[in-house]
Amino acid sequence: MDNKEAIAKLLSKEVNLKEAEILEILEAPKEAELGDFAFPCFKLAGKLKKSPVEIAKQLEKEFKDKIGKNNIEKVIAKGPYLNFFLNKNNLIENSIDDVEEDYGRSKEGKGKKVVVDFSGPNIGKPMHVGHIRSTIVGDSLIRCYNFLGYNTIGINYLGDVGLHIGKLIVAYEMWLDKKALKEDPVKELLRLYILFCEKEKSEVSEGQDAEEEFADNEWTNKAREKLKLIELGDKKTHKIWEEIRTSSGKGFDRVYQLLKVNFNETTGQSKFGEKGKTIITEALRKNLAHSEKDGAVYVEFEKENLPKRYILRKNGTASYITQDIGAAIERNKKYQFDKMIYVTDYRQQLHFQQLFAILRKFGQTFTDKCHHVPFGTVNFGKEILATRAGNIILLEDVLKKTIEKAKSEIKKRKTKGDPEKIGVGAIKYVILRNEPIKDVEFSWDVALNFEGDSGPYIQYAYARASSIIEKAKKEGKKVKEAPSKKILGVLDQETQLAKKIAEFPNIVVEVTEKFLPNLLASYSFHLAQSFNEFYHSCPVITADNETKARRLKLIEAFRKTIKNSLYLLGIDVMDEM
Ligand code: ARG
Repeated sequence: MDNKEAIAKLLSKEVNLKEAEILEILEAPKEAELGDFAFPCFKLAGKLKKSPVEIAKQLEKEFKDKIGKNNIEKVIAKGPYLNFFLNKNNLIENSIDDVEEDYGRSKEGKGKKVVVDFSGPNIGKPMHVGHIRSTIVGDSLIRCYNFLGYNTIGINYLGDVGLHIGKLIVAYEMWLDKKALKEDPVKELLRLYILFCEKEKSEVSEGQDAEEEFADNEWTNKAREKLKLIELGDKKTHKIWEEIRTSSGKGFDRVYQLLKVNFNETTGQSKFGEKGKTIITEALRKNLAHSEKDGAVYVEFEKENLPKRYILRKNGTASYITQDIGAAIERNKKYQFDKMIYVTDYRQQLHFQQLFAILRKFGQTFTDKCHHVPFGTVNFGKEILATRAGNIILLEDVLKKTIEKAKSEIKKRKTKGDPEKIGVGAIKYVILRNEPIKDVEFSWDVALNFEGDSGPYIQYAYARASSIIEKAKKEGKKVKEAPSKKILGVLDQETQLAKKIAEFPNIVVEVTEKFLPNLLASYSFHLAQSFNEFYHSCPVITADNETKARRLKLIEAFRKTIKNSLYLLGIDVMDEM
């Protein structure tokens, strides 16, 4: 039972409210001088026909004999509130007592399986920044579920078919520069793709859904023919398709290595078209789907109030949704998951609403276990837009440049630290600190600001904590001098830090319930802030022995907590910075 629960229990004996009701209204005052918990008496006023101020006064009296028990040091009526002050030493003790290396881990998810479909770049095109957001958010969710004991399966569902592949195959056959492909496959494939779009006079698009289809364009038609050849199993076309897949796979791997992200399964849309088609044929027979005169198949949603959706093209070929229907059903069979989460751009919201509605319509009951986590755009400042090739910002370039900038920042500050860990951490943090659905304004100044709400700021707090502990260890071996001025009592900065540490396990749970890693990001920042305030006002090495021991323990607990918190965001820590 934690402190709050203990107080609620005591209160429930005094007033005519249930423990759960009390827990709901019991507040943590913003200012330390108002105590650790405040009980507002408004709710009782109506019942007792007395003013809340009177009730608070009355309760203060009743609590006189409970002081000294349950950690309670003082109970004071303040206006309509009854304020509880806890024994600070015990409070710190209680908050950090169970902080070990695995602090926050639990077995809550034991025996449960969570599938996360994330990243999913489109082969032949470089990964764009939307894919990095998906990758980072998905990876953080997986880490959190894992931490809580769930069995997690991360799936990278590559966009390996679609019109853009047809376009690339045409361009590959006509203009490939073999040497360039060897040197930098991602750039060469992008060059080919841009060249094709110039001929076709279309936009160079990033996502696979955004592909423009021109009904009567000589170039688009060539691309369509290649797609058909893929479906027919033409050897030569398959060989090129394979080469494109391998080359761009190498490019993706470089990015995943930098980000330290792994998948349990890497697969592609093309594997699920046939399965999707079989299911659709079945649905047609049961009259759950209908065909147009030209052969295109669609589904209507009377109940859900969603627009009609075509699920098969008129020439019978599979599209994005056909494959997703097949893939979802296969996954359910293969993994029997308790939850499946898709992390994609918000523009696919309707796609997933329709996908889940279609599956329901076709009699699948697992859709209540399916969730779509949509995320907003990442906007870049002018500086980065200048690095665009065609219309595409090369993610790998942004990452590398961030690492370069981290390197010069380290030099400038004459500090230590690994530029890769700082640079990658900076990017991850600047993305994760935003609620997924909100847009991100990216700037290097913000991402790498060691003094602001940034990855490096938090990493730095960890390094600072490590160095105090190192120092204390060395001091400990030295001959003891008389401790300098004795510092009496526990300072507020200590209790604040201890209370923050105690919040950690609940935050992780909340992230998995709401799919919001940003909660963990802002928690990490506030925890680091709390630590820095503590650090500036509470001397450690020069304190008297008792104080020193307590503070060192607190720092040790902070170190473990912030390390785990950053780990769940996929951000590495360093002992020296
Ligand atoms: N390839 C898609 C894109 O670039 C993302 C795939 C998401 N996963 C899925 N099962 N549809 O937007």
